[in-house]
Amino acid sequence: MGLFGSKKSHQAGQVDMSRLPRHIAIIMDGNGRWAKQRGLPRTAGHKAGAEVFRRIATYCRKLGVEYLTVYAFSTENWKRPADEVSTIMGLLGQYIREAVASMEQEQIRLKFFGDVSALDPELQQLIAKTNEISSHIQGCQANICLNYGGRDELIRGARAFAADCAAGKCRPEDLTEAMFGNYLYSAGIPDPELIIRPSGEIRLSNFLLWQCAYSEFYFCDTLWPDFTEQTLDAAIIDYQKRDRRFGGIKK
Ligand code: FPP
Repeated sequence: MGLFGSKKSHQAGQVDMSRLPRHIAIIMDGNGRWAKQRGLPRTAGHKAGAEVFRRIATYCRKLGVEYLTVYAFSTENWKRPADEVSTIMGLLGQYIREAVASMEQEQIRLKFFGDVSALDPELQQLIAKTNEISSHIQGCQANICLNYGGRDELIRGARAFAADCAAGKCRPEDLTEAMFGNYLYSAGIPDPELIIRPSGEIRLSNFLLWQCAYSEFYFCDTLWPDFTEQTLDAAIIDYQKRDRRFGGIKK
């Protein structure tokens, strides 16, 4: 089985519910191109993309996927035109406001990966509220990467570990991979078994650099606003055909 997904939106076969990935991560790419194809402003693509995120999060919860991590705004996305940045932030605000009202009923917990202290104070308050509600909900956890960069996450983790060493709480020679993982936004969350990037781009773009060590990658041409439950099924079916050896050999 190759690195690439089927170009068709459907793939033969069915998801094996007994071998679902616990954690799926998605780079929600292609919103701008989707809008351009329709003669719409890029911001229309992000609006459609936010809707697709809602649907896919609900579908993951229905399937029984425990964690869904999405790349919503990177540390590099500030370079985009101001109106595009403010539309994305507005959509996030709108989503979080709705989530505050519905997450208990929907059974979707929310967590944010990234430096949220740089965001608008109102957005930060909303995030704090969802963190509080999430602490007493079971169900699927959606991790939204917001002002997130994989290298930035690693630097922050390294700084925090160095500060703990300087404070005498630990020693550099005692650091293990498991310990270092606890200094990252994803502390306590299993690594994603499956990382999906739609829209035909074949790169990681600073996403989950530590956590992707043994992830399976799935790339497809579908633009994110066209991504459906069937596209996710096709990615999971493809993942289920892979032979995961983690550096070992097949028994
Ligand atoms: C990448 O497509 C997409 C983004 C940088 C923004 C993603 C944001 C959302 C889907 C909206 C808010 C999210 C949530 C969770 C409610 P692109 O603009 O780079 O597309 P292009 O490559 O076609 O230009």
